[in-house]
Amino acid sequence: MKFFIDTANLKDIQEAVELGVLDGVTTNPSLMAKEGIRGTDAVMSHYKQICEIVDGDVSAEVIATDYDGIIREGEALAELHPNIVVKVPMIRDGVKAIKYFSEKGIKTNCTLIFTAGQALLAAKAGATYVSPFVGRLDDIGADGLQLIQQIVDIFSNYGYPTQVLAASVRHVPHLIQCAELGADVVTCPLNVITGLLNHPLTEKGLATFLADHAKVNA
Ligand code: E4P
Repeated sequence: MKFFIDTANLKDIQEAVELGVLDGVTTNPSLMAKEGIRGTDAVMSHYKQICEIVDGDVSAEVIATDYDGIIREGEALAELHPNIVVKVPMIRDGVKAIKYFSEKGIKTNCTLIFTAGQALLAAKAGATYVSPFVGRLDDIGADGLQLIQQIVDIFSNYGYPTQVLAASVRHVPHLIQCAELGADVVTCPLNVITGLLNHPLTEKGLATFLADHAKVNA
């Protein structure tokens, strides 16, 4: 299973890289705004910096919603670095653009997936990744994890190479359940990745081991 970090914060990305378990990064316009990145030049330069920190796929989202605009922005993003994955929203022109990018050998991540039908459409268009949003479905009282199960089953039935990138993963149980269901990738904030380290019995056990070691080596 691949771990992507869902942030545009360079410090968090660096910390996840140092932990030695990071396979890539996902960003979105809200995450870029949160870091105060404004203007095309600053956005492009920020993506380049992320690509220099991480040796793995980096999703960079287009803002355009029309076919020509998506193609123009996506090609400019893809030229920044070989690890850039063009993130395209699940809309009609987005699906057409994914087909175009796929034929050009440009990797894509189809974002804002909330139904199995949307995921199937993106896979047929040749998306490298689909991003079903687990947490946002849970937020409205639906079952985000059930969607992951459906998409994993459908892609497996037909051998689609499109990877299921579980997004909007908000806490450790989400991440573990996505792993049980066979999602290829999870993307989540740093605290969810580091949350995997924790168990009170690990802390208690280590404290006891160190105390006993200190006693016999006093
Ligand atoms: C996916 O790529 C999105 O950036 C992200 O996972 C959305 O998460 P949120 O619902 O916690 O904002």
